[in-house]
Amino acid sequence: MRNPLFIPVSVLIAVTFACTPQNKERGPQGVTSRRAMVVSAHQLASAAGVSILEKGGNAVDAAVTVEMCLAVCYPNAGNIAGGGFIVMRMYDGTVVSLDYREKAPMRASRDMYLDAGGNVVPGASINGHRACGVPGTVAGLFEAHRKYGRLPWKDLVEPAVRLASEGFPLTEKQAVDLNRSKSRLLKINGRETALAGKGLWHAGDTLVQPDLARTLERIRDLGRDGFYRGETARLIVEEMERGGGLISAADLETYEPVWRVPVTGTYRGYRIISMPPPSSGGVGLLQMLGMVEPFDLGNMGWNSPDAVHVMAEAARRMYADRAAYLGDPEFVEIPVKGLLNRDYLKDRMSGFDMKRAGNSLDIGEGDPAIWESEETTHYSIVDPMGNALAGTTTLNGSYGSGVIVKGGGFLLNNQMDDFSIKPGFPNLYGLVGGEANAIAPGKRMLSSMTPTVVEKEGKLFMVLGSPGGSTIITSVFQVLINVIDHHMSMQQAVEAGRFHHQWLPDTLYYENPALDNMCLRELTERGHHVRRRGAIGRVDAVLVWPDDRLEGGADPRGDDTAIGLE
Ligand code: GLY
Repeated sequence: MRNPLFIPVSVLIAVTFACTPQNKERGPQGVTSRRAMVVSAHQLASAAGVSILEKGGNAVDAAVTVEMCLAVCYPNAGNIAGGGFIVMRMYDGTVVSLDYREKAPMRASRDMYLDAGGNVVPGASINGHRACGVPGTVAGLFEAHRKYGRLPWKDLVEPAVRLASEGFPLTEKQAVDLNRSKSRLLKINGRETALAGKGLWHAGDTLVQPDLARTLERIRDLGRDGFYRGETARLIVEEMERGGGLISAADLETYEPVWRVPVTGTYRGYRIISMPPPSSGGVGLLQMLGMVEPFDLGNMGWNSPDAVHVMAEAARRMYADRAAYLGDPEFVEIPVKGLLNRDYLKDRMSGFDMKRAGNSLDIGEGDPAIWESEETTHYSIVDPMGNALAGTTTLNGSYGSGVIVKGGGFLLNNQMDDFSIKPGFPNLYGLVGGEANAIAPGKRMLSSMTPTVVEKEGKLFMVLGSPGGSTIITSVFQVLINVIDHHMSMQQAVEAGRFHHQWLPDTLYYENPALDNMCLRELTERGHHVRRRGAIGRVDAVLVWPDDRLEGGADPRGDDTAIGLE
């Protein structure tokens, strides 16, 4: 079959320029390009992705390089021992998604984080060796490349090898973040590592990771076998044995990513293409969009009390459904069609009162059967052929389990915490769950990652996604609405302040300056329990303008960078 991601070799260098918006309604733009765009959490990863496009690589090639580089230059979430999802829309309109989510090791069991009295052992699913799921990232990227890649695999991994062996300068944010995590990393590993040593990090210090460079060389030279077999697999299994972890050589050797049909739906005529279970992201996003569509959010005004109220009430109802119904589709029957049914969503909002907040104790999950049918990182890529790729990848918590494989130099995830470790017990992100997301050997834990592509009138319109644990879905939801209902440019939509509701706890969180005092007062009067918190989400996105220019939206909450090709 012809590779649909073929792109011409000649690509000119990127130009960033301020330009007059063709679409008068939208505000000032971010970085724009007529050819291609890469937006990721780190300038070096975006630049490496762009250089792959320059060499004739396509969106998948660039994604491999971006993700491998993020494992080096953005170690709190970029990874080779975590997992992720990719949603792609090819230039010809074909849509696919790839699931390389971690799995529970075969020796995992339902109550593995409970003590003899049935109580959750604090931190057991978050810190250390037993928190690790079987990694999926390398297998996923290798599979994406096997099916759609254009340039040789080795050329795509090489930039990450160089970045790890030669080192790179830490940003201010990274130095602060590493210093904050130092004692945890030292305690869990019982030794100094490249990330945590004697002194403190400062902006501009060079982070060199020689063990990681050698692991990446094996991945470069041997492909997936460079991670799941041989030396790297041996190092992982030895690490597990040292720390009482459960991942075995067989778990590694048998890990397989899965191609899945994306979930799709419409919102005000736009087609939304997103990640299906085992992520709750796509279903959750479409549920919320379906619930708010009958309301004129544009006229209500951006983050007005009415708009926030409607959106928060939709989020409250969606997260109640998430807790009850979503999990790994290989293990549980998920009523996706029912959850997305227009009449079901209308019914979910039937008790909605514009003047009164709902009560999460009263609002349980709905009954879709009768209608049947915070640390993570995201990158968005559009290549010169028009192939679009949204990729979200994660170790779960910042620096994952904190376990750095001895001799391998890479962090292992703590994705086991995304399971419901005990019905009703909140995870790292305060999310609760039940039977559908209970631990079982070989099962994938439920995710909130929401890599998403949007079409308008049959053409590519937007590519987006976010990190942020439970806040991922609401962040993507708000950025979409900022563009579609409030006519913002991509950069404006990404920068705009955000809020979050997840059913339980019954709290409407907001970051500054998302909601003004008048709005907060009104929301409180309607019965919302409002609470300020730190940054919500970090959306990296691309918008296609009517004249086909691509606008990158890089989230200023981090060091995120958009780089285009011209
Ligand atoms: N670990 C975050 C997520 O997958 O939702």
